[in-house]
Amino acid sequence: MPTRKKIGLIGAGNIGGELARLFANEELGDVLLFDIAAKENFAKGKALDLEQNGAVLGYDCNIRGTSNWNDLEGADVLVITAGIPRKPGQSRDDLVATNLPIIRDVANNAKKVCPNAFVIVISNPLDAMVYEYKRVVGAPKSMVVGMAGVLDSARFQLFLAREAGVSVKDVRAMVLGGHGDDMVPVLSMTTVHGVPVGALIAKEKLDKIVDRTRKGGGEIVNLMGTSAYYAPASSAVSMARSYLLDQKRILAAAAYLDGEYGYKDLFMGVPVVIGGKGVEKIIDIPLTEAEKEMLAKSAKSVQAVVDICKKG
Ligand code: NAI
Repeated sequence: MPTRKKIGLIGAGNIGGELARLFANEELGDVLLFDIAAKENFAKGKALDLEQNGAVLGYDCNIRGTSNWNDLEGADVLVITAGIPRKPGQSRDDLVATNLPIIRDVANNAKKVCPNAFVIVISNPLDAMVYEYKRVVGAPKSMVVGMAGVLDSARFQLFLAREAGVSVKDVRAMVLGGHGDDMVPVLSMTTVHGVPVGALIAKEKLDKIVDRTRKGGGEIVNLMGTSAYYAPASSAVSMARSYLLDQKRILAAAAYLDGEYGYKDLFMGVPVVIGGKGVEKIIDIPLTEAEKEMLAKSAKSVQAVVDICKKG
C-alpha cells in the first residue's frame, strides 16, 4: 500500500511556515516542521495552526512541530531554511559566519536519520551552503540542489511582464549563475510567448530590469527589514513537487557542476530537469559570449565564498 511522503522542513521561521502551508495545501505529504529546541513550541504552534487551517480549507495531512531529529527518520524530502536571513545593508555573503555552523549541524544530523532524502537548500549564502551540505552528507549530486533560480527567474519575469504590459504567465525567462548580485538573467533566451523580449522592450529598459532583478532580494529586505518568504517558499515547492510527482520540469536551480558549463566541483544556477530521480539532467543551453563572461564572474564570486567555507 502506498504510504504518504514525509516532508521535513528544517527551520520553522518565515519561509519554513509558508513551505508547510503550501505542502499541506497540496497534500504532497505529511509535514514535519523542525527547529532548534528553544523554538520547539513555536514550531509546534505553527504546525497546529496549519492543521486547523486544513479543517477550514479542506486539506488533510499531519503537520507536526519538533526539535528532535529522530522524528525526521526516513524523510523523503528535506527543505532547509535553517539560519539567519539578511537585514538591510547586509549581503548574502555576510551571513556565512553564522549560517556555516548551522548548515553543518543540519547536515550531520540529516546524514544520520535521512541520508536518502531529496534535499533542497534555501539558506544563504545559497551556493556555498548547498555545497557544504553535500560535502558533509556525501550525498549523490542528483539528490542535493539549491533553490535560487526559480525565485530569481520569477522576479525577472514579473518585472518584464509589468514593463511589456503583458501577463506574467506568458513570460519565459531564466536566471542562472550564483544567487548574488552578479547573477545572470539570460536575455538571449527570454521570450514573451515565443517572441524575443528585445522586440517588446527597449534595451535601456531591459538593462534596468536586469539590474533590478539582481538586487531583487535586497529590495524586499530594505522594505521589510528581513528576507522575502512567499515567493521563496513557492519556488522550493515547485522543485519538490517536480521530484515527488516525477514531473520532469525544467527549472533553474543550483546544481553540482562536474564539468558542465566549464565548471567543476561547484554549485551554481543552471537549467536542470527535476524528476523522480532528483536532478536527472543539467541542460546545456547556448549562451552568448557576454553571458558566458557574466557567468564566469558569478562563478568567481561563488567560489570565493566556498573557499571561506573550506577554510572554516
Ligand atoms: P527565519 O529567521 O524566519 O527562519 C530561520 C529559522 O531557522 C529560525 O526559526 C531559526 O530558529 C532556525 N534555525 C537556526 N538554526 C537552526 C538549526 N541548527 N536547526 C534548525 N533550525 C535552525 O528566516 P527565513 O526568512 O525563513 O530565511 C531562512 C534562510 O533563507 C535565510 O538564510 C535567508 O537568507 C534564506 N533565503 C534564501 C533565499 C533563496 O533564494 N535561496 C530567499 C530568501 C531567504
